[in-house]
Amino acid sequence: MARKIFIAGNWKMNKTAAETRALCEALKTSLAPFAGKAEVAVCPTFTSLTTAVEILKGTNVKVGAQNIHWADEGAFTGEISGAMLKEIGVEYVIIGHSERRQYFGETDETVNKRTAAALKYGLKPIVCIGETLAEREGNQTEAVLEKQIRGAFAGIPAAAMADITIAYEPVWAIGTGKTATPDMAEATHAFIRKVLTDLFGAAVADAAVIQYGGSMKPGNAKDLVAQKDIDGGLIGGAALKADSFTELVKNAIGA
Ligand code: PGA
Repeated sequence: MARKIFIAGNWKMNKTAAETRALCEALKTSLAPFAGKAEVAVCPTFTSLTTAVEILKGTNVKVGAQNIHWADEGAFTGEISGAMLKEIGVEYVIIGHSERRQYFGETDETVNKRTAAALKYGLKPIVCIGETLAEREGNQTEAVLEKQIRGAFAGIPAAAMADITIAYEPVWAIGTGKTATPDMAEATHAFIRKVLTDLFGAAVADAAVIQYGGSMKPGNAKDLVAQKDIDGGLIGGAALKADSFTELVKNAIGA
């Protein structure tokens, strides 16, 4: 079956609201020709979300957040709830990025709780998984990914998978300029789809959108997304400039 191509920009802790305004104004125009050919989203920081939503309203560029708390409200200083994101018009939310796992104590269990909360509020989760270099070199990649997938989706109904994107991001490829080769990434994506088949059945696994992330650039996007099981990308560095992000989207869809 034909899955949609989905390219999302993870801006991480970059861009003030004024900078967000400028980048969104540029992307609004430069990405317009790709309407209907790919799903495209940008994920700025919390303080820039309303600016991005306002500028991109009615365009083909969607807006996502970079985190969500699992509680509806309460004494969780520094956190943001699903209701808050939904209210301002956010559509996607990145969950369990490796930087959150590495620096902020994110675990498979908290990823699972955040995923359930996003679904509860009608937000579409982009759930990140990925192995470290030591894990890959120790032949642990498949075991690590399977544990992350089973942990993230425990108790999540099969029907919800239609709203969920998985972002496979080998930790050793993030921000390093080291990309997994298309063959290596494809083999891992095929494995992820196999685990999804075990969990949810072939039809759900077949329809699941699985992005690759980790030094995806305009120059390698085409070869990566051309792979059978790679359905787009989660983009860090190359998403911070209108020209590189636009070029990347263009190359990914083979326009
Ligand atoms: P990168 O980041 O494209 O800068 O490697 C990807 C990500 O961390 O989502």
